[in-house]
Amino acid sequence: MVKAVVCGASGGIGQPLSLFLKASPYVTELALYDVVNAPGVAADLSHICTGAKVSGYSPKDDGLKLALTNAQLVVIPAGIPRKPGMTRDDLFKINAGIVYDLINGVAQFCPKAFVLVISNPVNSMVPIACEVLKRHKVFDPARVFGVTTLDTVRAQTFTASLLESTASNSKFDPSQIAVPVVGGHSGDTIVPLLSLAQPAQDLQLSSTISHQQRSDLIHRIQFGGDEVVQAKDGMGSATLSMAYAGYRFAEAVLRATVGGESSIVEASYVYLPGIPKGGVAVRDRVGLDYFAMPIRLGPHGVEEVVNLLDKIDEYEVGLINIAQKGLKTSIEKGVSFVTDHN
Ligand code: NAD
Ligand code: LMR
Repeated sequence: MVKAVVCGASGGIGQPLSLFLKASPYVTELALYDVVNAPGVAADLSHICTGAKVSGYSPKDDGLKLALTNAQLVVIPAGIPRKPGMTRDDLFKINAGIVYDLINGVAQFCPKAFVLVISNPVNSMVPIACEVLKRHKVFDPARVFGVTTLDTVRAQTFTASLLESTASNSKFDPSQIAVPVVGGHSGDTIVPLLSLAQPAQDLQLSSTISHQQRSDLIHRIQFGGDEVVQAKDGMGSATLSMAYAGYRFAEAVLRATVGGESSIVEASYVYLPGIPKGGVAVRDRVGLDYFAMPIRLGPHGVEEVVNLLDKIDEYEVGLINIAQKGLKTSIEKGVSFVTDHN
């Protein structure tokens, strides 16, 4: 019995993500919240013959409170997307205020919910979310997730496609390839760990692809978002692949927390000092409070941060060092936004 809420439900990500949640066997109630058209999207989805009861809310008449009350899962793709020539950080000014207000609602109306932050820049929005929850004294680091699954999804797809182009007559199923992606969610803060790609014996990445191919692959994973922004030419950024990735992560959380499955691991950008198992060690290694790593999920959310940093090669150590610098600035910017917001 799960009540899930999508904040930003009428948008490019919000609509297909809400569709996935409506079809989810875990969701019994689905509340859609947006500043425009949420009742319309809710009416549309409500005709689908699955169990979840759907309702739509706007800010008027206590809509946020009604949407969030009793929620166990809150997914936030609210906010503006990029246009060509913009960085994710260019979205900070507008999206910070949106995420701040929504998380204030979470703190008041569903403080125990699992919160999945999709809005960009994720590297700063997650610190904002955590700081707001801290202020309300309801912060549980095991329950707040920056959604970086699209980077993992891209790493699987692009790696399979490169391997296919280099190995004649071989088919590589992207869903069977695992590439851990760590760091953050923007440009060179995205660090794919190709040396740890699985299944190692079949992939043999280092012997199959050249150094140049490897660095091109890393660059493509880091800047995959730009490919979509440019192709959409002013009409926004990734929406459908993001909805797929967002649901994949939401489902992982539901399978672990409601379905009782152990050993589910997905990467996410989390608050490290609050996760004794693995989180503190990664924090000490990177000197940052927030970092994306594969996390093991359990009944209460993040159970363990799976520290891969002792296993990476020298080239990847260099990539992590670059990522640390960008992340430091983005994290400080998010934390300061809340400190200055009185
Ligand atoms: P969009 O403009 O299509 O949709 C955003 C929705 O948010 C709109 O329906 C809008 O009305 C709504 N909204 C605005 N202010 C709101 C508020 N205060 N409360 C509730 N809803 C509000 O944009 P999109 O393409 O769906 O992207 C949404 C966000 O997700 C962007 O910031 C984008 O950069 C980000 N994104 C993140 C990832 C990721 O990997 N984490 C991937 C793709 C996009
Ligand atoms: C992505 O990676 O596709 C998203 O973060 C959207 C963007 O702005 O690129």
